[in-house]
Amino acid sequence: MTHVTPARKQSGTSLYGGTSSRRITVRDIAAAKERGEKWPMLTAYDAMTASVFDQAGIPVLLVGDSMGNCHLGYESTVPVTMDEIALLSAAVVRGTRRSLVVGDLPFGSYQEGPVQALRNATRLVKEAGVGAVKLEGGERSADQIELLVRSGVPVMAHIGLTPQSVNAYGGYPVQGRGEEAAQQLLRDAKAVQDAGAFAVVLELVPAELAAEVTRSLHIPTVGIGAGPDCDGQVLVWTDMAGMTDGRVPRFVKQYAQLRQGLGDAARAFAEDVVGGAYPAEEHSFH
Ligand code: KIV
Repeated sequence: MTHVTPARKQSGTSLYGGTSSRRITVRDIAAAKERGEKWPMLTAYDAMTASVFDQAGIPVLLVGDSMGNCHLGYESTVPVTMDEIALLSAAVVRGTRRSLVVGDLPFGSYQEGPVQALRNATRLVKEAGVGAVKLEGGERSADQIELLVRSGVPVMAHIGLTPQSVNAYGGYPVQGRGEEAAQQLLRDAKAVQDAGAFAVVLELVPAELAAEVTRSLHIPTVGIGAGPDCDGQVLVWTDMAGMTDGRVPRFVKQYAQLRQGLGDAARAFAEDVVGGAYPAEEHSFH
């Protein structure tokens, strides 16, 4: 069946709003860079939310280790395990037909070296059915990326701020500020491209530097807090839709206020139950 996204119907091959009867692949992502097309990516952690984004035409869904803070109630991404990523990645794959699903390799699942990375990436591809994996690190992760790509696993790299290193940073500081740090970011970007990554996330880097990286690479960049010139833009869905409790980072734009709406719905239900208005006649069987 041809899947036509309702949000913005376009003919042809565009990643967002295009028509296609099959899943997006990394070749489609490469073609979008050649066309100079910008594209959106969101995180997803369950089948139902993923199906909403799939039907909205979001071409790439990331089962991010941000599930630690946004779905599993941890303080950071650090405690997230392979079992958790595998379980939720499988759910996201089941909830989607068109989106390319990218499974995140969590902290400790690839740092030992390429063989460990391949073992865990293979698990996400075979058990969960993801079309690609993501891992953090530039030059330091190049060997892992190279073996995964040689073995047939597409890899999205992630440089700039890498949240799995929160304990080393002592927070979430903007990266790539100053000449030396900017040069390191450019080297990291080149290293992941040379290792075979099909795209690279740039997190929390100055907009001008992200623009320079984007111009210098033939693979697409996906920005988060990296200005408007990246090829793609990614947001954590709970931030984007106003589900997050409390402050969201400055780079987030909220497109809905789901937390407020869901709380209102829960309170209305509770009041109906307490007041005897629910269930009414039309909700009852005789
Ligand atoms: O885990 C995640 O959600 C991410 C994105 C913020 C890129 O890594």
